[in-house]
Amino acid sequence: MNVFITKNIPESGILLLKEKGINLTINPTENILSRNEYIKICQKNDALLNVGSTTLDEDFFQQCPHLKGIALFSVGYDSVHIPSANNRKIPVGNTPDVLNRATSDIAFLLMQSVARKSFYNHNRITKGEWGSFNALENLGQELYGKTLGIFGLGRIGFEMAQKCKAAFGMNIIYHNRSHNENAEKEFDAQYVDFETLLSQSDVLSVHSNYTEENNELFNKNTFSKMKRNAIFVNTARGKFHNEDDLFYALTNDIIWGAGLDVTNPEPMQKDNPLLSLPNCCILPHIGSATYEARNAMAVCAAQNIVALFENKKMPFCVNE
Ligand code: DGY
Repeated sequence: MNVFITKNIPESGILLLKEKGINLTINPTENILSRNEYIKICQKNDALLNVGSTTLDEDFFQQCPHLKGIALFSVGYDSVHIPSANNRKIPVGNTPDVLNRATSDIAFLLMQSVARKSFYNHNRITKGEWGSFNALENLGQELYGKTLGIFGLGRIGFEMAQKCKAAFGMNIIYHNRSHNENAEKEFDAQYVDFETLLSQSDVLSVHSNYTEENNELFNKNTFSKMKRNAIFVNTARGKFHNEDDLFYALTNDIIWGAGLDVTNPEPMQKDNPLLSLPNCCILPHIGSATYEARNAMAVCAAQNIVALFENKKMPFCVNE
């Protein structure tokens, strides 16, 4: 079997694939392929290990109907048009669970960074603006006993809630497709409707899978229903929020601040006005960027490919 790996991945995954005698074509990271080049290489391979957010839409599947399977190097699978894969019986695999800790760590970090304006204050030092002590300056807010609202209480949201409960004794409310009994048992999480999530959360953290029906769900209207001291955290997908509306909310005292590991679009350009705000902390989509998580993701993705090679069901399949 011939597999195209669209960008280099940790050795842990490559070794597993090589051990099985699978032929690999690895695109060196510095080589950014055009869509045509990308499709041409896919046409010469039996399976794809897709690293990054290249869109695999109906047109892609029309041009590559022969593919036996696609392994994504991500937990999110919004880059793939799943009905098109289903129509051709092409299994799509992802890398669930192994990045729960790393991603929820980043949500937790951003929440605190915004509450204490840490990125802004770091930048002030770099600009030579660290002056004498001022008791009224740089004041943040404490999170003890406040309410954390989770939008999408799956595995990553669960870990974020667990950390917030343990560190700050926060009350947990959540909005989800279904009840999460574990969370209700373990930290008294309370299921609420979306409007209540907006109006009651001191911190609102997004952890849902992205679907088009949730496109820019966080916008002028929804931000206006949030508390003035609310911190909006998004480590899921940038398309959950409207960036102009977020800028408006942050500069008009509608909400307190925002912490983003994902932007809309990505990558964010260096002159984006959100980058200049004291109440906004932004990271370049590094939720899963730890040695531990990335090594484990490489193994999961490789296991999905190995299963194809052995005519078995992918262990982490999103569409079967
Ligand atoms: C994921 O795994 O979905 C991360 O967001 C990287 O895309």
